[in-house]
Amino acid sequence: MAQLNIVEYPDAMLRQQAVKITSFDASTAEVSANLLDTLYSTSGIGLCAPQIGESVQILVMDLSDDHSQPEVFVNPTILKKSGMAIAEEACLSIPGVAAKVMRSGQILVQAQDINGEPFEREYQNMKAVCLQHEIDHLQGKLFIDRISSLRRYRFRQALRALETRALA
Ligand code: NI
Repeated sequence: MAQLNIVEYPDAMLRQQAVKITSFDASTAEVSANLLDTLYSTSGIGLCAPQIGESVQILVMDLSDDHSQPEVFVNPTILKKSGMAIAEEACLSIPGVAAKVMRSGQILVQAQDINGEPFEREYQNMKAVCLQHEIDHLQGKLFIDRISSLRRYRFRQALRALETRALA
């Protein structure tokens, strides 16, 4: 178990479609443990495997203040969406940028645990928002893709600074 460095925009890893987990072994458990250790070293509420350099479909979420409610999702998909939630989002991979994003307010998620056991759960509000943000990551999509170009214009300097740093 380890706290790992978080992959930052514009790294190409963040644009890949993450691979589905088909064999549930020690490496599945290790990735999820590393994700939680790394998440808990930040102020974030969700983190996915591509953000620690593993292009596989695993994500973790914990909205508690004391790290007491970790949830792990392997191969998650959204079965149903309804309602609307608009929340200010940020991303550990895009430091310095936060923006309101429109998402569904309720979702039904199907996923597997680290042993491959399937489950379905309903989520609302911030948990639903967090899961939609993280599931987007697994498809190579970032929250900045979901804001209008006019609003994105406000972040052009922050994004350009990250792009320039990556070239240095
Ligand atoms: Ni993110």
